Amino acid sequence: MTTTFTVEAGGSLRGRLRVPGDKSISHRAIMLGALAEGRTKITGFLDGEDCLATLAAFQAMGVSIERPEPNTVIIDGVGLHGLKASAASLDMGNSGTAMRLMCGVLAGQDFDSTLVGDASLNRRPMRRVTEPLGRMGARIDTDGDGTPPLRIHGGQSLRGHKHTLAVASAQVKSALLLAGLWSEGETCVTEPAPTRDHTERMLEGFGCPVRRERRTACVTGDTPLRAGPVEVPADISSAAFFLVGASIAKGSDLLLEHVGVNPTRTGVIDILRLMGASIEVLDRREIGGEPVADLQVRWSPLRGIAIPRELVPLAIDEFPALFIAAACAEGETVLTGAEELRVKESDRIQVMADGLVALGVDCEVLPDGLRIQGRSRLRGGVIHSHGDHRIAMSFAIAALRADGAVTIHDCDNVATSFPGFRALARGAGLGITAS
Ligand code: S3P
Repeated sequence: MTTTFTVEAGGSLRGRLRVPGDKSISHRAIMLGALAEGRTKITGFLDGEDCLATLAAFQAMGVSIERPEPNTVIIDGVGLHGLKASAASLDMGNSGTAMRLMCGVLAGQDFDSTLVGDASLNRRPMRRVTEPLGRMGARIDTDGDGTPPLRIHGGQSLRGHKHTLAVASAQVKSALLLAGLWSEGETCVTEPAPTRDHTERMLEGFGCPVRRERRTACVTGDTPLRAGPVEVPADISSAAFFLVGASIAKGSDLLLEHVGVNPTRTGVIDILRLMGASIEVLDRREIGGEPVADLQVRWSPLRGIAIPRELVPLAIDEFPALFIAAACAEGETVLTGAEELRVKESDRIQVMADGLVALGVDCEVLPDGLRIQGRSRLRGGVIHSHGDHRIAMSFAIAALRADGAVTIHDCDNVATSFPGFRALARGAGLGITAS
């Protein structure tokens, strides 16, 4: 039996809250902290299952990691050449980020490793990392269709390579830059469109220069990493549910504190503003190389738009929530150029379309996106999240504009990215319970 959410219809979101730490930054902080020389203290760490899988993997490879209190991690780094073979397979759970970035870390080790995942991760494409890593000299076996488990053969000599990526993917870019740390010479990655640059920023923070020119980032092999403190801001991808919820629910007025607003992540704000949302970015500051701000969001009538393609990679995880905004907007919203959504934790185009239809929304599935006809009220209904955390939370928020309760099945995986979602959402005014 997995968790089912039941969310009462209507209500509004009010007050101030801080959502948990950024998932992408938390993964990277564990990885670089483990590979650095010296002691790294991470605060604001996301204690979600995905990041805990990364943490456990490094412990299994001999890294000493302490947890003095929740959201704080202390790592005694072992340096670039200090990892040891794990006695067992490394279980990456539900996390594509963990698995793909770990390919980059493990490809250049002198021991073999095996990476496994849950049923969702076992369906996700891995050749996008294994093939370019192969061009650097890595040897990684996938299942016949390019999916996990992955068998990474150690003891290979890697050489730097100039990669040009076909897919805009921060996970692929990051895996290749990380592998570059064990490669001879320079490794460069050119991406087709800008994607989140947390790896580049954090490498710099750990004393490893990253040469950046337009869409290319390069690292030089064997540059040691120096430990230091990492403060993780709140995750804009988790804040997104509240940005959408407060935008669609009349009477809402919410302050989201200390949110990471790295410009490679703020597509959700840009898209919601184009739809007419009222979002103010307050008290911008920079913390540990990442921009942070408080976000004030108030209810505002939304209108449908054609989502600009250049914003797609900058909001790639926020489309489930944005589709709910579109369903509550006046007129039609069209998303194209987002085929990547089909290979996330679920096929987020099809699964969201099925859920929207269950709530009475008229939508058309496109190969690379969705066309949604907004309506003033949604119906209550039953949703299958397909074990996808962001689908579950998006439909929970949709209940704010529904005429009847929304029931969402298969919600356990909310814990992968947003532990405490229910309590935080309840505190802000969402009538959510779980069974
Ligand atoms: C992530 C990159 C994105 C995103 C994922 C986290 C990262 O994936 O969807 O949730 O931390 O690098 P892709 O690189 O596959 O687009």
